[in-house]
Amino acid sequence: MRADTPEEKYINDVFGLHDPELLAVKRELEAHQVDFMSISGHEARLLQFLIRSFHVQKIVEVGTLYGYSAIAMAKALPAEGKLITLEKSPANFEIARKCIRDSSVSHKIEALCGEAEEILHGIEAKGPFDMVFIDANKGGYVSYLNWAEKNVRRGGLIVGDNTFLFGALWGQTRDRDIGPNQIKIMSEFNTRLSDTTRYNSVLIPTVEGLTVAQKLY
Ligand SMILES: C[S@@+](CC[C@H](N)C(=O)[O-])C[C@H]1O[C@@H](n2cnc3c(N)ncnc32)[C@H](O)[C@@H]1O
Repeated sequence: MRADTPEEKYINDVFGLHDPELLAVKRELEAHQVDFMSISGHEARLLQFLIRSFHVQKIVEVGTLYGYSAIAMAKALPAEGKLITLEKSPANFEIARKCIRDSSVSHKIEALCGEAEEILHGIEAKGPFDMVFIDANKGGYVSYLNWAEKNVRRGGLIVGDNTFLFGALWGQTRDRDIGPNQIKIMSEFNTRLSDTTRYNSVLIPTVEGLTVAQKLY
């Protein structure tokens, strides 16, 4: 379960997203007790801030769940903007499809069901992309980064959520079953994106850690 610190509660109250369409998705997440897997309102607002500030038009998201982050990001895209979101679980995908269909930004979102690594190869021709948001299986982060490095344009963004790996990067596990391979993969993900010769980047200390890197090459 993700921690809901007093700081996060305050930020969500004041700088969250109180959009009725997004609140409807939150209710669906809560009804299935998977709310903790989705980004919070203020994190969604942070992604919207990045999309608007960097004039992002084409996004790939890895990890849809029920579509909360996809819908929030699509709302910040310009009218001609597009977002492709990838989800492995057919059960999650079906609920996401319904949530996206019920939103006012469904025309901007293409939701695809399957193993992300396989789908990513098939969508390369639609690139280059302005932003990749990685929020799926932690063991896949380096391979998603390899793909993003090839398919995000110069000046575009590579963003990864949960990049503290639930505290495992500094020896805490927070009751999660995190193996050494996942620690190695997330360490490599953050270390590569911290390279100032290739990226203009930060690791934002959200509760879960959000790595944001602008590609300089
Ligand atoms: C943390 S949730 C995504 C939350 C979503 N971005 C949000 O904030 O609303 C991670 C999702 O990634 C999906 N997933 C896990 N491994 C995957 C893979 N290999 N390919 C595609 N999706 C995957 C899971 O089924 C889950 O729905």
